[in-house]
Amino acid sequence: TGKKKIVVLPGDYIGPEIMAAGLTVLAAATQGTDFKYELIECPFGGAGIDQVGDPLPDETIQTAQQADAILLSAIGGPKWDQAPVRPEAGLLGIRSALNLFANIRPTQVSPAQIERSPLKGENVTGTDFVIVRELTSGAYFGQPRRLDQDEAVDTMYYSRAEIERIMAVGFQLAQQRKRHVTVVDKSNVLATSKLWRQIGQEFSHRYPDVQVDYRYVDAMSMAIIAHPAQFDVVITPNLFGDILSDEAAQITGSIGQIPSMSIGVNGPNLYEPIHGSAPDIAGKGIANPLSMVNTVAMMMAQSFNENQIAHKIQAAVDYVIAHKIVTSDMGGSQTTASMTQALVDFIREEN
Ligand code: NAD
Ligand code: IPM
Ligand code: MN
Repeated sequence: TGKKKIVVLPGDYIGPEIMAAGLTVLAAATQGTDFKYELIECPFGGAGIDQVGDPLPDETIQTAQQADAILLSAIGGPKWDQAPVRPEAGLLGIRSALNLFANIRPTQVSPAQIERSPLKGENVTGTDFVIVRELTSGAYFGQPRRLDQDEAVDTMYYSRAEIERIMAVGFQLAQQRKRHVTVVDKSNVLATSKLWRQIGQEFSHRYPDVQVDYRYVDAMSMAIIAHPAQFDVVITPNLFGDILSDEAAQITGSIGQIPSMSIGVNGPNLYEPIHGSAPDIAGKGIANPLSMVNTVAMMMAQSFNENQIAHKIQAAVDYVIAHKIVTSDMGGSQTTASMTQALVDFIREEN
């Protein structure tokens, strides 16, 4: 079946540091297996602006569309905050161009992670839920959108079709998990949320085997830290999903370990950590590589059905966490490089 084409978008600040770690682990975990791949690096984000004057060059879109999977680390940062077109526009642009409408962001707390959680152990035990974030519509993309001297406009828009397709992803995921969906919206105020909840109710009738409950996003942000173990699949609009997923990440102890997958319509999935380019720690060699390593494992399982390779990577991640071979965001004193080496050593011994 030939070599799989993986488009690599290394990004900005800590982006290239953790991408290098993820690719090193990928090489170790696939060594001696039948899985063969080719990495195609493309200009993107701030690096795209610097190299070719565009955070999302046409050629990057075309190359990405033809890939088997896309790996992205993180883009943006102070260097381009005043640029006429920011790196973030490239990120929104690739999501939109590839129709990556469903973004899956897991929150799982293993026994070894409990002591690093800011929450009390008895509350966090058993936490294992997934945020299904709508990614190509809502407040991020609605028109009109305008910034003038004395006023500014954003538009929150959702069509029925856009809501139905994200609900379908969430309900089907729930059927493979704990059969529980939480629909999150602000339907006591927003029109788009009223439609969101109404379609959620329609889906609850179509999926009688799935238990459904409904929350307003403000109460949800409280419930996520009060009783995170009660949730399974959380389906929410773009903006709410952005906010809730960073909050949920912190329950695990650090955002520096959380991967995500964005699913399109026919094209390749895109895999990226949920965090940003962490300019505050860039260049110091202390970025936590686990977000990218977990992202690589997710890609191997979901895009390539290489579950053994994914498990090998996950076992290495469990090992470094259990033995506290971790960076400072997780309470350790490792560097990105030494932690990556520990992952590789573990994988080589298992091989
Ligand atoms: P951030 O996620 O980059 O950082 C928030 C905090 O988390 C910082 O203290 C950072 O040091 C820490 N952190 C994040 N990743 C870490 C890791 N792997 N290891 C250790 N610590 C880690 O959020 P921010 O500072 O608000 O944003 C910085 C830039 O990133 C902005 O330009 C923003 O637009 C961009 N951003 C990009 C993406 C993306 O590319 N997908 C996502 C979010 C933010
Ligand atoms: C994320 C990021 C992006 C978002 C930004 C950088 C555009 O925060 O992927 O969570 O808001 O979607
Ligand atoms: Mn975010």
